[in-house]
Amino acid sequence: MSDSITITDNRTGESIEIPIADGGVDATEWRKLLPNVWFFDPGFMTTAACSSAITELDGDAGILRYRGYPIEELAANSSYIEVSYLLIHGELPTPAQFEAWNHEVTYHTFIHENMRKRFMEGFHYDAHPMGMLVSAIAALSTFYPEAKAIADAEIRHKQIVRLIAKMPTIAACAHRFYSGMPFVYPDNSKKFTENFLNMMFNPVEWVDYANPVLAKALDTLFILHADHEQNCSTSAMRVVGSSHADPYTACSAAAAALYGPRHGGANEQVVRMLTEIGSIDNVPDFVRSVKEGSGGRLQGFGHRVYKNYDPRATIIKQTAEEVFEVTGKNPLLDIALKLEEVALKDEYFLSRKLYPNVDFYSGLIYQAMSFPIDMFPVLFAIPRTSGWLAHWQELLEQDSRISRPRQLYIGEGERKYVPIDQR
Ligand code: CMC
Repeated sequence: MSDSITITDNRTGESIEIPIADGGVDATEWRKLLPNVWFFDPGFMTTAACSSAITELDGDAGILRYRGYPIEELAANSSYIEVSYLLIHGELPTPAQFEAWNHEVTYHTFIHENMRKRFMEGFHYDAHPMGMLVSAIAALSTFYPEAKAIADAEIRHKQIVRLIAKMPTIAACAHRFYSGMPFVYPDNSKKFTENFLNMMFNPVEWVDYANPVLAKALDTLFILHADHEQNCSTSAMRVVGSSHADPYTACSAAAAALYGPRHGGANEQVVRMLTEIGSIDNVPDFVRSVKEGSGGRLQGFGHRVYKNYDPRATIIKQTAEEVFEVTGKNPLLDIALKLEEVALKDEYFLSRKLYPNVDFYSGLIYQAMSFPIDMFPVLFAIPRTSGWLAHWQELLEQDSRISRPRQLYIGEGERKYVPIDQR
């Protein structure tokens, strides 16, 4: 049996054989036989919208690799800065390359004073930090108009560095503004996550913001969140990037997609859900309500691609233990563990292959580290920026066409216009 499929158009009797390559079939062949017969695939359940060499994900086997390196090895041995280099450049850096990259990212952390004073401080006093972040990323394009020159590799590189470097500064700035605290400038003598924790919390005395264990844990979380192939926000980045918009505008669209509770907003929903459950004793009733449909979804469970335990969730569980040794245990942890135990024995979740995903435990860590719940999607956006940009760069290097799906029109046929006084 050859690795191919045969499609026959029963209207004409014509057939075409299409090879199966890299696990898929090329739609160009389909189009030759069936022009104007659209492949109906809402939610892209069966459509590969691009080819990519960045992240490999096997949801059934629970495998996640960046550029071929298993996520477990990167989380144990690497740093977010090194991983961002790997995603963007395709290879792990040599010591000299790492030094140069680290220096570049470190020295682009400052934002223009007008960005802070005129733009960030113009938000309503209680603005959600994710709304501020999404808008601020787009606003950066007005500070760097040369970013439009997307065909120039040097200019592209400069914007990639700027975006990765400025995300923590903007994120912390949003937090300081809505919590009424003065802005803390980046300290370029600090490492990436140390610097971020300092900008967020210095000098709040009840937060252990200078503790290296917490900086390391946050760095691990940043590695785990750095990329995840064609997820909703990365697809948004690719779609907007395919129109040749500048990277700030495209990144802002990606961050907007991340904000939704089905995507990067889920960690926020997990903590709200656990708080609402309130006690271990209420877990069975809550699970029952989820199954009956009255309790909403079990937040932090399920994934479009993973039909097995999310490998990131396993690493996060270990990281949680390290963090709780410093901060004390998050009281919601026991409810989360009970919920996981009950769900993983329940036929409803087993038959649908619903397992904890990356968001199930990450929110508990962030909360224990004193991040307010509103900041959780922002914490996801900071590292995912390097993934978005790796995909944006790949898309441009592939000289890809503009994203423009087809539709199945199901509306009215032609109708005659009726003047308003006759309706
Ligand atoms: N709780 C209860 N039932 C669920 C859940 C859940 N969390 N997730 C899926 N189901 C059920 C769903 O009701 C459906 O059942 P049925 O076949 O009886 O109608 C079945 O499982 C398939 O669900 P689906 O909505 O078709 O699956 P999807 O692939 O479209 O959605 C998902 C994936 C992640 C949006 C979904 O699992 C979900 O809403 N999970 C909760 C939110 C969440 O944790 N999101 C974070 C995802 S990981 C981080 C990231 O990458 O963004």
